[in-house]
Amino acid sequence: MKVLIIGSGGREHAMAWQCAKFDSVEKVFVAPGNAGTALEKKLINIDIGVEAIDELVEFAKNKKIDLTIVGPEAPLVIGIVDYFQANGLTIFGPTKAASQLEGSKSFCKDFLSRNKIPTATYKIFDKSAPAIEYIKNQSLPIVIKTDGLAAGKGVIIANTQKQAIKAINDMLEENYFGVAGNKIVIEEFLVGEELSFIAMVDENNVLPMATSQDHKARDNNDKGPNTGGMGAYSPVTSVNNEILQNIMNTIIYPTVDKMKEQGMTYTGFLYAGLMINNKGKAKVLEYNCRLGDPETQPILLRLKSNLANLCLLAANNKLNDANIKWDDRAALGVVLAADGYPGDYKKDQQITLPDDTENTKIFHAGTKLVNNKILSNGGRVLCATALGKDVKSAKDNAYKLVNKIDWQGCYYRDDIGFKAIKPNTED
Ligand code: AMP
Ligand code: GLY
Repeated sequence: MKVLIIGSGGREHAMAWQCAKFDSVEKVFVAPGNAGTALEKKLINIDIGVEAIDELVEFAKNKKIDLTIVGPEAPLVIGIVDYFQANGLTIFGPTKAASQLEGSKSFCKDFLSRNKIPTATYKIFDKSAPAIEYIKNQSLPIVIKTDGLAAGKGVIIANTQKQAIKAINDMLEENYFGVAGNKIVIEEFLVGEELSFIAMVDENNVLPMATSQDHKARDNNDKGPNTGGMGAYSPVTSVNNEILQNIMNTIIYPTVDKMKEQGMTYTGFLYAGLMINNKGKAKVLEYNCRLGDPETQPILLRLKSNLANLCLLAANNKLNDANIKWDDRAALGVVLAADGYPGDYKKDQQITLPDDTENTKIFHAGTKLVNNKILSNGGRVLCATALGKDVKSAKDNAYKLVNKIDWQGCYYRDDIGFKAIKPNTED
């Protein structure tokens, strides 16, 4: 089959690479891709942007693409799935209506609260004066979020009233986040362990994928500004079967059932960002309508089944026929970012990489290929990912891989996976 993957990040490199491993997949086109996808066997980059829906439909029709899988949220939120389906094309992802779970935080929070799905208490505002009044009676820290998409930067955790007021004003008065910040959600700060829980969903079935944990803060020990994610590992062994069953019963099934009941049937990857408290009870921090980045990189290094087949089954509402197989080992990915990210950073720096092995893989994100040289071309640039018998050994292998990368001017955390590794097992 011929597959089209939409996107250009580490997640999309991992998706395309995983599909291409299998003989049943003849070619994988990546729109627009990066240097990693340009260099990979069976992968072909095409120069079409992720939101150029008309051009993508034309391309999929001309090349007789059998299956399209969407990486990032932006095209989903503007309705790429509806458009492909209206053109008779097979695509796996949520419709525009269903993508609101990620596209609008106020939609998501109202949906969760209306349907009694556990989440932090909250209030929605579109004027700063009542928002400022409201926070005066709330405990700190408090969380302020833009309603719309803000590339992972629209969440402020305020430790003081002054910071909270500044965040409210930045969003509602200063237009700092554009229209995404015309409405805001103010919510209770939750404590506990974060978990990324992703399921594949079709009209009738839900298939959970392997668990993972992201590291959103830029610096070691979860300090520094929030980023798109500085590294991830899978599985999260502290989350036992009882907790997982509880997540399915109190969060995932009710979400899928209620979306259907309310006329917005959800299909696609459903990513629940969860906070699990010390009693093992989970609450929803956010929903994403796609796979996570960088969670996908370690997850797909562990996936033994063919991702393209799974997505094709799902697109035909036959996920109940899927037999998903995972490598029992752990996988861990370390993101190498350009120094300065998530603020200003340099581009066009040359990078030299070691060869991939059976147990290690370097996924590209912000890279481009110029005269056969790999140059940096974004904030998050690479994800060095490795397998190991447990998270500790996957971590050791991933950092050995990082040490073989020749790139002046990269920045990375050196504690990815720290919550999964007991201090006495550290070197
Ligand atoms: P979100 O984009 O909503 O997932 O928020 C980004 C990150 O901010 C999350 O991964 C959490 O680390 C943190 N966060 C968001 N909402 C809350 C909350 N209510 N309590 C504590 N941390 C939060
Ligand atoms: N890693 C977080 C996300 O993909 O939103």
